[in-house]
Amino acid sequence: MNTVAVVGTQWGDEGKGKIVDLLAADAEIVVRFQGGNNAAHTLVIEGEKFILRLVPSGALNRSTTCVLGGGMVVNPFALIEEIQNLKKRGVDLEGRLKVSFDAHLVMPYHIAIDRARESHLGKRAIGTTGFGIGPTYEDKMSRQGLRFDDLIDWASFKDKLERNIKEKNLYLKAVLKTRPIDGKVLLAELQKLRRRLLPYLSDTSAYVARATVDGKKILFEGAHGTMLDIDYGTYPFVTSSNCIASAVYAGGGVPPGKLDAVLGISKAYTTRVGAGPFPTEIHGALGDSLREEGAEFGSATGRPRRIGWFDAALARYAIRVNGLWGLALTKLDVLTGIDPLKICVGYKIGKDSFDTMPPGRNALAKAKPVYEEIAGWHEKPDAARTIDELPANARRYVERLAELCGVQIAMIGVGASRDATIVLKNPFQEV
Ligand code: IMP
Repeated sequence: MNTVAVVGTQWGDEGKGKIVDLLAADAEIVVRFQGGNNAAHTLVIEGEKFILRLVPSGALNRSTTCVLGGGMVVNPFALIEEIQNLKKRGVDLEGRLKVSFDAHLVMPYHIAIDRARESHLGKRAIGTTGFGIGPTYEDKMSRQGLRFDDLIDWASFKDKLERNIKEKNLYLKAVLKTRPIDGKVLLAELQKLRRRLLPYLSDTSAYVARATVDGKKILFEGAHGTMLDIDYGTYPFVTSSNCIASAVYAGGGVPPGKLDAVLGISKAYTTRVGAGPFPTEIHGALGDSLREEGAEFGSATGRPRRIGWFDAALARYAIRVNGLWGLALTKLDVLTGIDPLKICVGYKIGKDSFDTMPPGRNALAKAKPVYEEIAGWHEKPDAARTIDELPANARRYVERLAELCGVQIAMIGVGASRDATIVLKNPFQEV
């Protein structure tokens, strides 16, 4: 298979970075197609930790071309900083990073609006990352957004930006009662930055479409997760983009029908950051110890993640909406020592039973999980590189998840580093 997408099946933070990095060894091109620096993919390579927010995780494979697709919203300051930081650590993106003309620019007023709104919402806050993602997509949809394309003609860019600053500053001051943006400083900074951004600009949708015709191996790297999708997630506690596999077409530029496989990534348990329904959430000491064991603190914001049992009902939903070819299960090692383990196999709402997402997303807040228990294991699985090397109960747990979800498990993560993965099937090596 030549074109493979990787998507999160839960609320983000499933460990996609590591799997993408592993698959990128076979890919000539890695494409991000939605979201912005609200994503953070953590990679541990030869003991060194890398956190990537905008640049695809495939960047660390030095021969891969990295694409930021038109469906993304990109903070240009954060992008240049990330490019520089990677360069300092020996990863040069010169000549192999392509940024779509169509991607939208995240501006400081978007960040100010995002943060001020969240603080006004108080207890009803969404718990956004505060990186201006929602307000940037709002401007895109209301056709006020600024795109990388606009940077080419500085005079017209300046004019559009000045108009936006004027309107946003009015909103920031009068409605959100917060400090306005210094337009002059922003313009001067952007004029300087522009020269460094222009060399990366590219017609990425033409590039990706051509590459599919040429039979190149392309990896589409999803950010966030199915339950954070603007349409299919737990609205309004979601991010502002489509993060399911169909976003690959619009946001990545691949023509419909040209995607060979979608690999879903799921933790062996569940986490979420921010507010919103979470049926299998574990409160108290067990949740706390899993959080410590799994280092479950947001890579982008440092916030502690909420912890829960594996939810097969939500996994079935993610399998359907993403058309999954297989599942990569991550962080199995974190569950070592918890005995018994629980798996959510469905929900009850009053007298009604559901084996997947109940109709009408609001219903999830009322859903009571139905659990089955399964024996845990006590031996660390970190050194296992084949399924037979797993502790017997860990293997049974994985097989039970596959059975409940009705999908093949293609990979199993047993530790933080890239090589701590059992690869049962690599989509790029399948026909
Ligand atoms: P926003 O994307 O910053 O607007 O945040 C909206 C919601 O999505 C919040 O609950 C965030 O915590 C969540 N979110 C956004 N990106 C990620 C991610 O990469 N991992 C986990 N949660 C995320």
